[in-house]
Amino acid sequence: MSDILERLRTETRAAHDAIERDLAWETRVANRDDYRALLGRFWGLHAVLEPALAASLGDAAFFDPRRRLAHLVADLRFLGFDDAAIGALPRPQLALPRHRAEAFGALYVLEGSTLGGQVIAKHIGRQLGLTAEGGCRYYAAHGRETGAMWKAFRLSLAEEASHGKADVIVASATATFDAMRLWLCGEPSRSS
Ligand code: HEM
Repeated sequence: MSDILERLRTETRAAHDAIERDLAWETRVANRDDYRALLGRFWGLHAVLEPALAASLGDAAFFDPRRRLAHLVADLRFLGFDDAAIGALPRPQLALPRHRAEAFGALYVLEGSTLGGQVIAKHIGRQLGLTAEGGCRYYAAHGRETGAMWKAFRLSLAEEASHGKADVIVASATATFDAMRLWLCGEPSRSS
């Protein structure tokens, strides 16, 4: 494992545990209405973060396959929202990534969420009868490409960290976890 990944894992473990605990995801996806509300929160997050990530990374070939806003739109439409309802969803006020190193820290959190997301997608399939083609595109994320996408991300992450920006990446990842938890869970419990 690269040093940066080891550091990220160790130094954001408490933040991951906190979001996993506070999200109470099984409750949030227990029925279609609650699940749609959760997707609405994710929509606000991605609507704010993705343009900033794209601008800071300046690498469409790398970032575009990692965009998930359109997946959220597809799911929300499937679950009955029209474009006006989607556009009116609330968006969080976040400290946005200002350059590549901060973008890599934030993207570590979003890309890492596709790993646990595979478990959640299976559960949603069983619980709500939804699939990647109908209502569960966001959680399905990279699907069978999940392993390959994570491996490619880790390589780019290690390359970025080799420019001496590891501290910035870790700080940005921690801040992103905490901001996500506050936005998705709405409760100010500290992660560390
Ligand atoms: C929005 C909430 C979440 C975010 C942002 C998030 C983020 C992450 C990140 C960044 C990693 C990568 C860790 C690493 O290898 O360096 C990860 C891994 C993982 N997460 Fe989460 N996570 C979230 C929620 C959850 C939940 C609710 C579960 C429970 C099902 C979960 C289960 C996992 C598992 C099992 C892995 C490890 C997968 C593997 O190593 O193959 N996560 N998550």
